Amino acid sequence: MGYKVVVAGATGNVGREMLNILAERQFPVDELVPLASRRSLGTEVSFGDQTLKTRDIEGFDFTGYDIALFAIGSDATKKYAPIAAKQGCVVIDNSSLYRYDPDVPLVVPEVNPEAVDGYAKKNIIANPNCSTAQMVVALKPLHDRAKIKRVVVSTYQSVSGSGKAAIDELWDQTKGMYVPGQEVEPKVYPKQIAFNVIPHIDVFLDDGSTKEEWKMVAETKKIVDPKIKLTATCVRVPVFVGHAEAINIEFEDFLDEDEARDILREAPGIMVVDKREDGGYITPVECVGDFATFISRIRQDSTIENGLNLWCVSDNLRKGAALNAVQIAETLGNRVLKKG
Ligand SMILES: NC(=O)c1ccc[n+]([C@@H]2O[C@H](COP(=O)([O-])OP(=O)(O)OC[C@H]3O[C@@H](n4cnc5c(N)ncnc54)[C@H](OP(=O)(O)O)[C@@H]3O)[C@@H](O)[C@H]2O)c1
Repeated sequence: MGYKVVVAGATGNVGREMLNILAERQFPVDELVPLASRRSLGTEVSFGDQTLKTRDIEGFDFTGYDIALFAIGSDATKKYAPIAAKQGCVVIDNSSLYRYDPDVPLVVPEVNPEAVDGYAKKNIIANPNCSTAQMVVALKPLHDRAKIKRVVVSTYQSVSGSGKAAIDELWDQTKGMYVPGQEVEPKVYPKQIAFNVIPHIDVFLDDGSTKEEWKMVAETKKIVDPKIKLTATCVRVPVFVGHAEAINIEFEDFLDEDEARDILREAPGIMVVDKREDGGYITPVECVGDFATFISRIRQDSTIENGLNLWCVSDNLRKGAALNAVQIAETLGNRVLKKG
């Protein structure tokens, strides 16, 4: 007997990837219902070799469904997640709404799978922000060996992290640059994204940082270790899919770059591609459609006592969202629900 699964936001970037990944990983599904807003009623989506018609989330009865994977943004999640949870369906949510709620586990299965067990307080499990998810997969095995004191991270985040409207904006703006009269004004982003980079993701906070940067700090503390100090600069770049991060780590104990490379090679969810030659590293276009988080450019930082630099690349729609959510469903299944 398998699971009765709902995918809410099935017409979106993350929702479609959820459907792909559930099929690719052969998650034991008995029944799958794709939901979205009324706008998408009847829109066809693919699930393995099936074509399913999207239903309206409004009024949907979650009773009898085991797991609902949500990717519908915070506002709609606020309305529908409590309904699903109350009707006995465990919600695995991709929005930021519940991530910092002490009664909701925030889970990256390679890092803190045991946290899933705390799902029952609200019947909700939160998925981290895309930039956090890939980073903590790399930080955790190094932290276990040499204790991380401080992290300085700069992100290079693709536009698919802002939803389908942002993908269209980059595409149309790029084409429009070459056709006089067809220039496209920024709408999703505050400035032109084509042929540009924007050091601003999510809203500004009082201390001058952005909410995206704050999320990386708060989520790393919740998932890995509250003692880790972290400072981030989050930047949007004109790439469709795949987030990259330059990460500088300061440890309590010395960690040699060769040992770090070996640790990362053995770590779950990671692929090390690190040759010190032209092209001996991974770039975002190469990670698209992959499950792994890729680590390259591992090297000592000789400006501090116990320092290491690395380059971390992953498909933000996968490890940063849909894959992590499906892995949480698998973990919940194996540890708690035990069907399939
Ligand atoms: N993209 C990423 O890298 C990433 C990473 C981590 C987390 N997330 C989170 O995942 C969520 C979805 O992101 P996305 O990139 O997939 O966005 P998207 O491509 O814009 O898709 C949004 C989805 O939500 C649905 N939706 C919007 N408002 C709704 C409502 N009121 N009721 C029901 N369904 C509604 C849309 O349905 P319609 O088609 O009917 O409008 C669509 O299926 C967001 O919370 C985002 O923060 C995204």
